[in-house]
Amino acid sequence: MISSTVLFYGTYVLCLCLGLLCVVFVSYWNIEWRGGFAWDASFLQFNWHPVLMVTGLVVLYGNAAILYRIPFTWSQRKQHWKLVHAALLLSSLILSILGLCAVFDFHTGYHIPNLYSLHSWVGICTVVLFTAQWLLGLVGFLSPCSPLGFRKLLKPVHAWMGMAIFILSLASCLSVTKNADPPPITTNYIAYSSHPAEALFANFLGVLIVAFGLVVLGILSNQRWNRLEPGEESSRVSILLSPYCVV
Ligand code: HEM
Repeated sequence: MISSTVLFYGTYVLCLCLGLLCVVFVSYWNIEWRGGFAWDASFLQFNWHPVLMVTGLVVLYGNAAILYRIPFTWSQRKQHWKLVHAALLLSSLILSILGLCAVFDFHTGYHIPNLYSLHSWVGICTVVLFTAQWLLGLVGFLSPCSPLGFRKLLKPVHAWMGMAIFILSLASCLSVTKNADPPPITTNYIAYSSHPAEALFANFLGVLIVAFGLVVLGILSNQRWNRLEPGEESSRVSILLSPYCVV
């Protein structure tokens, strides 16, 4: 049991470091090669889009998803952690919506049509599903009048949907095709292939996002790191005694 916990915290620290690196890399990319940030419907406003989407829908979302897996929280009242989970996801949702406003405003400013790419279709579906999931979670798990039977029914659907939304948000990040937009009037957007340093950096950011996603999905799929509900302790003992268990 002790080494399973140590293994968890090792993986968790890796997850925090990768998440932090994703935020630093996506911000640095936009400052160093894309001209920085503004909120004036220009291409500088667009630059908020990758930063807010990666920070909100990948890093914050991923961390909120694995919150219940932290062994430290298991001995504490679940209600408190439900509130922290909901608050982290609300922050993630707000950042994602701001990230979408950044790109929609930019498109409007440059008369570029909206929602024409695969990236934008996958992306908009992800944010719509996330909004529905957050609202249903609020009603189902935090509202005092939600019946126990409904909560039990909702729980596996909520967990599956949560994982699906995370995978879709990773897919959104990886489906960005360069030059998807007509280039705005700035040399910053001249062919990607003529900027080897930027191209390498952006590819490395993609690798970091994939690594972060795999670590989060690894934590979520490990049954030994699942918080058990009252009455489930016996199944934990049988899992711990199984030949695959790291004791
Ligand atoms: C979870 C992550 C993401 C989601 C949910 C998402 C969602 C979206 C949506 C819905 C649009 C369409 C906006 C419109 O049509 O006006 C869009 C456009 C765009 N996004 Fe993202 N995005 C994400 C991450 C990123 C990242 C990391 C980049 C990196 C540069 C990026 C680059 C773009 C570009 C270039 C466009 C305009 C061209 C196009 O529609 O493909 N996005 N995004």
